[in-house]
Amino acid sequence: MHKVQIPGSAAEVCRIGLGGGGLIGGASLRESVAVFEAAYEAGIRYVDVAPLYGLAEDVVGNLVRSHRGDFIVATKVGIARPRLPGLLSLLRKTLRPIAVRLPTVKQFALRQTQGLVATGLFHPDQVRSSLEDSLRRLKTEWVDILLLHEPRTRDITPELLRELDQFVSSGRVRLLGTGTQGPAEHSIRYGDVWQHRYAPGDALPANKLGLRVVHGVVRHGLPLLRAAIAARSATASAMSSRYGFDFFDPDAHPAILATLALAADPRSVLLVSSRHPLRIRRCLAQVNWSIARGDTPEYVERVGAFLTADSTAAAAR
Ligand SMILES: NC(=O)c1ccc[n+]([C@@H]2O[C@H](COP(=O)([O-])OP(=O)(O)OC[C@H]3O[C@@H](n4cnc5c(N)ncnc54)[C@H](OP(=O)(O)O)[C@@H]3O)[C@@H](O)[C@H]2O)c1
Repeated sequence: MHKVQIPGSAAEVCRIGLGGGGLIGGASLRESVAVFEAAYEAGIRYVDVAPLYGLAEDVVGNLVRSHRGDFIVATKVGIARPRLPGLLSLLRKTLRPIAVRLPTVKQFALRQTQGLVATGLFHPDQVRSSLEDSLRRLKTEWVDILLLHEPRTRDITPELLRELDQFVSSGRVRLLGTGTQGPAEHSIRYGDVWQHRYAPGDALPANKLGLRVVHGVVRHGLPLLRAAIAARSATASAMSSRYGFDFFDPDAHPAILATLALAADPRSVLLVSSRHPLRIRRCLAQVNWSIARGDTPEYVERVGAFLTADSTAAAAR
């Protein structure tokens, strides 16, 4: 697994991390453990969790405790753990197959799960108790990265910053940052780690300092890639010969997209997630590391344009 340097340190971090959003534990504990093991065998030593992800911190805590020093563990403050994390896992597991087919059910399920969580919890007392709870669930004395989860400008107060400095000086947190669902241009940046979405077509502002961590390229890229191949098969064929991926093989799609995100900023870390160990294995095995480290910069331009041609044309009309 290729690595990048952690800011302000000689230590390095692997360029692909496992998103804990899918490690839901509870009724899915066995699947969550299998996904984690697949990621570990593929060389992943970076895990991103949050109180919001239900039982994910408990699952990860049990799995990393005997090799804690080998892992980079990132968690978050600002959005509470659901009041009934087991119920949330069960809801996601049972509703997902129906929700995928019925968008209205999906919207309903989303509203229900959102109703179970509280956001914007950035008062110093709230972040302190959130970190303490996370450390307990993660069964560790420190987290490598603590992200403010979906902060707004008004949340970043001098009192909060004093509290965060305390976390670092006491050794409970190594690096601070922000983590947001949206793209870089809509995100607030604070600290050394800048976590945001990277979907095909998203602008990627320069990042001279600190560690960029991106997520969402597979989630947002798969439908674009399928549509682009159907609409422009001759270009897909030319790109298959040029870049060594079979664009017509759906099993290669996550790696085509992961390679795009990694190459878009060769100093970034990419988070991936799946409920299926095989998907994690396949994606990691097929990443083209030469392109990912920036040896073929045209890949980002050409594959990016291939994926976004329909939306660019629609915007021009
Ligand atoms: N605020 C924040 O900081 C923030 C916000 C969003 C995300 N994140 C982090 O980023 C992580 C990754 O984000 P993400 O979940 O959007 O990652 P992603 O890897 O881009 O997308 C994962 C989605 O793609 C699907 N997928 C993966 N491989 C597939 C395949 N071969 N075929 C079809 N579908 C496939 C997965 O479904 P299956 O499970 O069915 O495979 C899942 O729904 C999250 O877990 C979380 O840790 C952080």
